[in-house]
Amino acid sequence: MSKTIIAFIGGGNMARALIGGLLRSGHPATAIHVADPSQDARETLNRETGVPCFSDNVQAIETADVIVLAVKPGQLPPVCRAVGPALAGRNPLLVSIVAGTRCADIHRWLGTTLPLVRVMPNTPALIGAGASALWADENVNADQRRIAGEILGTAGTTVWLDKESELDVVTAISGSGPAYFFLFIEALSEAGEQLGLPADTAARLARQTALGAARMSLESGEDPATLRQRVTSPGGTTERGIAALETGHLRELVIQAAAAAHRRAEELADAAGDS
Ligand SMILES: NC(=O)c1ccc[n+]([C@@H]2O[C@H](COP(=O)([O-])OP(=O)(O)OC[C@H]3O[C@@H](n4cnc5c(N)ncnc54)[C@H](OP(=O)(O)O)[C@@H]3O)[C@@H](O)[C@H]2O)c1
Repeated sequence: MSKTIIAFIGGGNMARALIGGLLRSGHPATAIHVADPSQDARETLNRETGVPCFSDNVQAIETADVIVLAVKPGQLPPVCRAVGPALAGRNPLLVSIVAGTRCADIHRWLGTTLPLVRVMPNTPALIGAGASALWADENVNADQRRIAGEILGTAGTTVWLDKESELDVVTAISGSGPAYFFLFIEALSEAGEQLGLPADTAARLARQTALGAARMSLESGEDPATLRQRVTSPGGTTERGIAALETGHLRELVIQAAAAAHRRAEELADAAGDS
């Protein structure tokens, strides 16, 4: 993919994470274009990465094989309307990482139909530990699918979805998921503090425990229930703690939280389509 020209519209946090990953994977800086309205952002990005930066979106995408839409959801309709005419008669792959913005709406705003991959990444992509779900529309060929997978793969794990609607579920699971785990870390830290540990000691232990548990569940090949049972000796401390979590209906709460986030993802996608 080293000759593939990848143009980012929007040079913010997520674009920078993907650009960093692409450069680390050996993609040449000259084959990455970025368009961003902020002169400061363009100068910083160019100085730090060597990628050519543009103030004009149309200029940035002129020779692109892949165009990554990386602006905020509210910024997308005017961006698409403005670049659409420049894309007529061309066939680059569009990769949209914009949350809650449906394929049909993007095509309507562009005024033209192009191969489109929609992606739901999450914030750990900023440190190369993201989880991204991708969905391709029927215009995307196998080569373009591979390229989209490689771009997102530089920022963490990728999974492919069969249906566009599953992206709203992903939003509720791995999109919002980091916040659920942050809340759990906050709560465990607070518990340690209330039980007498210094605040920074409790916070350090809670964070490292979350990391250790996540790594074990990924690297051991065991399912999380087995790993949990293995640290839960009959009559021991963990058994007592887990029983309190189950009595408090932690599982049901998590399912309710994800269902609420899913409903909101659908509402936001409906509202974005009204633009
Ligand atoms: N961050 C995440 O964890 C995450 C997770 C999942 C999905 N996403 C999606 O990823 C997208 C980008 O998120 P982000 O966190 O990277 O946002 P961000 O940091 O705000 O980046 C957006 C960038 O686009 C620029 N921009 C604004 N108007 C533009 C225009 N007309 N043409 C070109 N660039 C323009 C913004 O410049 P100004 O700042 O000057 O306006 C900003 O630099 C969002 O749609 C979000 O839904 C993000």
